Order: sequence, then structure tokens, then C-alpha cells
Amino acid sequence: MGLRRAVNGYQVSQALHVAASLGLADLLADRSRSTDDLAAACGAHPASLYRLLRALASIGVLDAEPERRFALTELGEELRSVPGSEHAHAVFIGRDYHWNAWSQLEHSVRTGEPAFQTLYGMSVWEYRAERPEESAIFDRWMTANTETVNDVIAGGYDFSRFAHVVDVGGGRGSLLAAVVRAHPDVQGTLFDQPHVVENVEIDGVEVIGGSFFDTVPRGADAYVLKWIIHDWGDDEAVAILRTCAAALDGDARVLVIERDLSDPAASWLDLQMLVMLGGRERTEHEYAALFRAAGLEPTSTTPVGAGLSVFEAR
Ligand SMILES: C[S@@+](CC[C@H](N)C(=O)[O-])C[C@H]1O[C@@H](n2cnc3c(N)ncnc32)[C@H](O)[C@@H]1O
Repeated sequence: MGLRRAVNGYQVSQALHVAASLGLADLLADRSRSTDDLAAACGAHPASLYRLLRALASIGVLDAEPERRFALTELGEELRSVPGSEHAHAVFIGRDYHWNAWSQLEHSVRTGEPAFQTLYGMSVWEYRAERPEESAIFDRWMTANTETVNDVIAGGYDFSRFAHVVDVGGGRGSLLAAVVRAHPDVQGTLFDQPHVVENVEIDGVEVIGGSFFDTVPRGADAYVLKWIIHDWGDDEAVAILRTCAAALDGDARVLVIERDLSDPAASWLDLQMLVMLGGRERTEHEYAALFRAAGLEPTSTTPVGAGLSVFEAR
């Protein structure tokens, strides 16, 4: 990619966000449509929508046809609101609080502070807890994101040796549903903030709301923490692991599922953690140090695919 294109990356990101928010790819799923038809269907200003559509065509998301008609390309298909697509991601990425926090990346780089906290005076978890629409948009993105890796995790690590698995901070339960589907003898418990797990119903899964800084359900054989520890700085990460350690009986395990920072792709996610949360991506060695600080003993690391590893401790 040329540097000019990269510097203008904000335009592409915001244009894709608006396309996803307007549901353009769904409207174009089975046929090309005129700009006026699209504008009426999504509630947009026709002449301005045309300018957006033309820009999206210039990057291969749409095909421009005569008379201001547009069709979806193979790339554009990825913006449809279907499982495994980029739709939920694109909707989330341009939300104002996320966008505003990234505008302060320089502040984070100069100070080491999460830009979000500096801008809004609260954590992003507190911000979303007060805003159900933002919480729902984020949860949909997390669900869509984990749907792309659930099978590699459920198939790449041996969950069948556990009778009872708790997914700590398990969102709306997509990964846990995949684990109990793949291993029907495993009993699952989903644990996350009360407003996140509200109305979640999954066969074979008990659902409990609470904070992992206070307590997690006791007595299970495995405690999954997927994309949790990277959200936090070292002190909070150790506190979460300590809560889990306090719930362990006998030979039970803690399973931290994250990218290994030795994967270069993790460096962008690492910046996201810095800006939004004050968290960070880590190496195997750094996860082992967190485990030990929480009174846990690292037992194994299992790369499962898709750049993810299961860091296990007891
Ligand atoms: C990055 S998401 C990961 C969700 C899920 N594990 C996944 O991999 O898709 C982090 C999760 O941590 C949850 N969380 C944040 N603070 C929490 C707390 N104090 N107690 C329990 N869950 C919390 C959020 O609600 C969110 O679902």
C-alpha cells in the first residue's frame, strides 16, 4: 500500500462504517440497484449517497454500473450482515466514542495512558454499561469476531477432559455454545457482566452475571478467559487471575486464550488495547509471569490456529 493511501485510511474506515450502518450490502445482496432506490431504502440523501457509493466502488467494494446503479463485488459481500462477515466490525469501528479515542492515540503514545479514559473520565466498560445501544453493538461485534475462531478453539484444544467449563467474561456465549456443541458431555457456565448476559439462553449452559473482580462460580474444572486478559494492565490482569485461582479446586485449570504477541498481526490489536483500555497483547513468557503473580503454575501452551494460543495454568 502506498503511504498516501495509508494516511487516508481514516476515510476508507469511516466510509465502510457508514456503508455497514446503512445496511448497503444487505440491500444489494441479490441485485444491483439505482442510487435513488438505495437512498430511499436506507434513508439517505441521494446525491451524497452517490458520492459515497462512487468512493466505495473506487476501492472494489462495489461495481459502478451505468445510470448510477451499483452492484456488490465479492469484497463487498463481506459487508453483509451474515455470520463470519465484517459487518458488525465495521458498524463498531466508526462509533463516535471509539473514533474519538483513536483521535487521541498520540496522547496514549506520549503518556502510556488509555486515551479513552482521559477523554471520557471512565473506562469503556462503564461507558457502555450506561449505553445499551453501544453495549449491544460491541457485543454483536464480539460475537461475530469469535464466530470466526470458535471451531478452531473448540477443536484445537482438548475440552473433553473437563466435566464443567466456566467461560469468564464470555460475552453472549458464542464460544461456550461451540464448546458444548463439540463436546456434549461438557457442562457450561457463562459468566459476564449482568447487562451483557441478560436474556442469553443456550442449551446446556447456565448463565450467571457478576464481576470477575469480585468472584467467579466455584468448583468447575476449567476457567476460560478469552480476549479478557489483553483488555487489562498487569495489576488488573493479576487481580482477575487471582479471582479465578480462588475458585479452583483440585486439578482445575485456567485457560487464557489470546494471540501471542510474537505474531506481528497482534501489534495493531495491541495499539487498540492501549488506546481503548490500557491493556496490552503479551508473549507466552509474559502470560506465564502473570500466572505466577496470581499464584498459578503455567502448565502448557497450545497454539490452536488463527494466531491464537491457549495458555493453560493450574
Ligand atoms: C473483549 S470482550 C471478550 C468477550 C468474549 N470472551 C469473546 O472472546 O468473544 C471482554 C468481555 O469482558 C467482559 N467484562 C468486562 N469487565 C468485566 C467484569 N468486571 N466482570 C465480568 N466480565 C467483564 C465484557 O463484558 C466483555 O464481554
